[in-house]
Amino acid sequence: MMWSTTLAFAALALPFGASTRAVSPDVYPSPPGQGSGRWAGAYASARKLVTQMTLEEKVNVTRGFKTDANVCAGNSGSVPRLGWPGMCLHDAGNGVRATDMVSAWASGLHVGASWDRNLTYQRGLYMAKEFRAKGVNIALGPNAGPLGRTPLGGRNWEGFSVDPYLSGQLNAETIVGYQDAGVIANLKHFIANEQETYRRPYSGVEAASSNLDDKTLHEYYLWPFMDGVRAGVASVMCSYNRINNTYGCENSKLMNGVLKSELAFDGFVMLDWNAQHNLQSANGGLDMVMPYGGSWGDNLTHAVRNGTVTEKRITDMATRSDDEKKTLVPLLVILTTDRLCRILAAWYLVGQDAPDFPAPGVGMKNLSLPHEPVDARVPESKPVLLGGAVAGHVLVKNVNRTLPFRSKPKMLSVYGYDAAPPPTKNIDTLFQLGYTSSQEMGQAVLGTLRSFDQAARGGTITTGGRAGANAPPYMSDPLSAIQHRAAADGTWVNWDIASTTPDVNGATQACLVFINAIATEGWDRTGLHDDASDGLVLHVASRCANTVVVVHAAGIRLVDQWIEHPNVTAAVLAHLPGQDSGTALVRLLYGEDNFSGRLPYTVARNESDYPVYAPCGRGRDNTTDPQCDYTEGVYLDYRAFDARNVTPRFEFGYGLSYTTFEYSSLALSPTRALCATPPSSPSSSSTNSTHDGLWDVVAHVEATVANAGPVSGDEVAQLYVGIPGAPPKQLRGFEKVHLRPGAAATVRFDLTRRDVSVWDVARQRWVVQKGEYPVYVGASCRDVRLTGSLVVE
Ligand code: NOJ
Repeated sequence: MMWSTTLAFAALALPFGASTRAVSPDVYPSPPGQGSGRWAGAYASARKLVTQMTLEEKVNVTRGFKTDANVCAGNSGSVPRLGWPGMCLHDAGNGVRATDMVSAWASGLHVGASWDRNLTYQRGLYMAKEFRAKGVNIALGPNAGPLGRTPLGGRNWEGFSVDPYLSGQLNAETIVGYQDAGVIANLKHFIANEQETYRRPYSGVEAASSNLDDKTLHEYYLWPFMDGVRAGVASVMCSYNRINNTYGCENSKLMNGVLKSELAFDGFVMLDWNAQHNLQSANGGLDMVMPYGGSWGDNLTHAVRNGTVTEKRITDMATRSDDEKKTLVPLLVILTTDRLCRILAAWYLVGQDAPDFPAPGVGMKNLSLPHEPVDARVPESKPVLLGGAVAGHVLVKNVNRTLPFRSKPKMLSVYGYDAAPPPTKNIDTLFQLGYTSSQEMGQAVLGTLRSFDQAARGGTITTGGRAGANAPPYMSDPLSAIQHRAAADGTWVNWDIASTTPDVNGATQACLVFINAIATEGWDRTGLHDDASDGLVLHVASRCANTVVVVHAAGIRLVDQWIEHPNVTAAVLAHLPGQDSGTALVRLLYGEDNFSGRLPYTVARNESDYPVYAPCGRGRDNTTDPQCDYTEGVYLDYRAFDARNVTPRFEFGYGLSYTTFEYSSLALSPTRALCATPPSSPSSSSTNSTHDGLWDVVAHVEATVANAGPVSGDEVAQLYVGIPGAPPKQLRGFEKVHLRPGAAATVRFDLTRRDVSVWDVARQRWVVQKGEYPVYVGASCRDVRLTGSLVVE
């Protein structure tokens, strides 16, 4: 049934220019899921179930309901008559939120810094086992947006990296991990949800509009979502912001046109909480509203009850007036079998029809009421938690062989508010990490977070704030972990974590200074470094010849105020390690583990070096219609530093190790598929995309990496490609290898057709251009060790 013009694959209207207002074209109707490939069985089961449902039952599946039975972020309706139990939906980023007896994993950014596919998969799998044990059907993650257009983004730490390739790879691993454990992954936030400032409409001011052109959309922001869909993600969350002036959750171009048609996404689109503004979203491609009925839930239930919406009315739609259609068509869309199939197929896809799948929300009781705690943790996850905590630490400076500490240091001194645990972890904390919308959420776990302060000064941080956070079973803080080690070694430890101008014992072997940079959903950061924390570092460094700085950071943290100080002999960007923070750090400081993390972003020398620094706002004329023009296109982070020839402090991909690695023997083998003309028929690997052969491997790149140093270590070999007319280098492969001293391994990267393609706006497809493609293999985007090139004729 067609009631509006179909403009499928129309280019997004040009968003820039003084008089041009960005427009997102209409794409109707919302396409039915195809149920192809891995989805086939799930769709067959879903269709069977849906055809037995009454209209009212159908409504219940597509919306949320308030319940006192659990504290899930959302609960869908159920269909008891048919034994369909409904679903509990819950956040996600660091583990199961706002409950007890679960693990607190490393945050997304920390995982991004690990560049470790296997650990990322394991984290997803074991984290999701806890969701399952708690009766959570849908984990509201992982996060492919924000990517990090502005380094001040309050939620950048929830995602893996500002680089779409790295983000896409790690999102895909996480999704497979979640869904292998039987939990529906929810890839969010679709799309261009790049700032918290004006993220939602409020007091007469519209949400910010992310105005981006079609090429930027495809080559940057959509890229990781493509990986997620290809990995089989069963649901996607639409975003609060507007995209080219249409709200994310009613944007038919993006949901119907891009996600459901172009990417052939077979799962369902879920509303971000209360992000619905009208019924139109049903036509736009939204499938489920949360947390309650939104603008269709109650209307629709009512309409079904009083007979306004009946199957008959729906089937004779052709005879209705235009006005009636405006109301009834969205209702019809919600209730189509296809729409419901998307939701129910997701449930079947991950096996939630299994008789042993826990009842929705069973372990998610209100903690202030008597409850039998459901311990969701499994012993097998312990090494993954600790390994993940270790892997996201990035060593950025290490001179005079400061680290690792030689055995049994005689005396160490510890400074800084971030060294010790926050004073309280109580039931309130757990709830705050879940539910308050105030700036003070999770104060006790996050440390005392003063409004618009950049650091959480009440204690060490192991997560950022709000939806991406959860509460840890325990918190291994740096000072306790150091003391524990000192007890075994007979080391004398001094500490002063209260003073900003502490005394330093002249006999100390090293001074460890702990500072942090906090970020949270709901607010963007106000800067990338704070004077008080920098002052503390400088104070200690001026008194201690061996100052080691550790920064727990929910995002990019600038270090130029002290990094070149001769007494700052080592520095670690420690990100957000989760519950095993201190233990992981001590293993690294003492050389029981080697640093293997690499920066998933660029650390600039100055704020002004970033192509986009501040979130956009209401401008000089205080508009109620904030417009964010993405004029920088794909030139973000290292792509911009390279193109503009700006020297970063620490480049993307950078990180030190206790050993050194040598690269040799670059071998490039283009396949016959590498040519400007793609195959004419879809190849077997092109599921989830309408683009012929997009995922075919068109070239293999190999290199040898050898450990040339004294200790075992992991190298992250990185592959960058220069696509003609695009940024000088773009990450297109990485492999983390563990090597004993003297050992060598071959790293192998498979380049797909997408990896060397650009989005052709006029033809609305990915194309490989003719020309020469420089290929760089090395230890970071600037530490290139081997170069070659591929030629496309
Ligand atoms: C709003 C956040 O944007 C989203 O990420 C989260 O999943 C929901 N709230 C539910 O808590």
